Amino acid sequence: MNKIKIFAPATVANVSCGFDAMAFALEDLGDDMLFTKNDSGKVSISKIEGAKLPFETQKNAASFVADAMLKDSNATFGVEIEIIKNYKPGSGLGSSAASSAGAAYAINELLGRPYNKTQLTKFAMLGEEVACGSQIADNVAGVIFGGFVLICNYEPLDIVSIPTPTELYVSVLHPQIELRTEEGRAILPKDIPLKMAVAQWSNVGGLISGLHTSDYNLIGRSVVDHIIEPVRKKMIPHFDAVKKAALADGALAVGISGSGPSIFALSKGEAQAKSVAESFKKTYTNKGIEFTTYVSKIGTQGVRKI
Ligand code: HSE
Repeated sequence: MNKIKIFAPATVANVSCGFDAMAFALEDLGDDMLFTKNDSGKVSISKIEGAKLPFETQKNAASFVADAMLKDSNATFGVEIEIIKNYKPGSGLGSSAASSAGAAYAINELLGRPYNKTQLTKFAMLGEEVACGSQIADNVAGVIFGGFVLICNYEPLDIVSIPTPTELYVSVLHPQIELRTEEGRAILPKDIPLKMAVAQWSNVGGLISGLHTSDYNLIGRSVVDHIIEPVRKKMIPHFDAVKKAALADGALAVGISGSGPSIFALSKGEAQAKSVAESFKKTYTNKGIEFTTYVSKIGTQGVRKI
């Protein structure tokens, strides 16, 4: 194989209760990337559309990951990368993760698949460190495994795929303001009261159970964040109003996507998810902030060849 074109999906990390431990992929929203082998022995980026991102190999998440993999596998070929970003970085929808995990997947294909999904996630985490300062696994695992993922352990990395109920849809509101993940992490508490921790891990358990049994009401009751949302929502204009209106409209749950500013809602069925997206629009119209909404099925496939 000399070249590969891939689609790397956007992801919703944390899913409210599972900070740094859970994520899911969207089906339709994401980036397109083209990887072409050459004889240079080096990784280069020839095109980036849709976002202002660095072209330098060691500063761009995708090329950094590609370079690390070619070195690790003692490959003799080089790779040229083209990146088409279909949504903005700093959205809370795992933009850097789509680039990092997209590169990990594509380079593995060009190498003849020497690495498994967990190893690919580890490589992609290097890209997350380049982009946002921490080796976070949730978004990149969501891209590589698809569907819902649970990071059971970071050291050693242990990722489990969780089943996706067939009628589960996500609506996303993306206010066009940029929140950097680094900033969104700097404001978080270092310690939390035991009572809060108990409520949070009970919710993670409830969510995992709800996903396994397609218990939509249990999913809704469990996608609640006692720890991170109260701190981060202050950086997202009109968060409480958006959440209240979407829940009144029939959403199962509403929360912050990753480190924000995007807000996600889970719904049973596409019609309900579309109605929630309308509710998002209604709340954000005439507020002086540009925004985009999306409705998607949960993307059970994750990153793929196109
Ligand atoms: N779990 C990470 C965070 C995801 O919330 O900071 C970053 O998008």
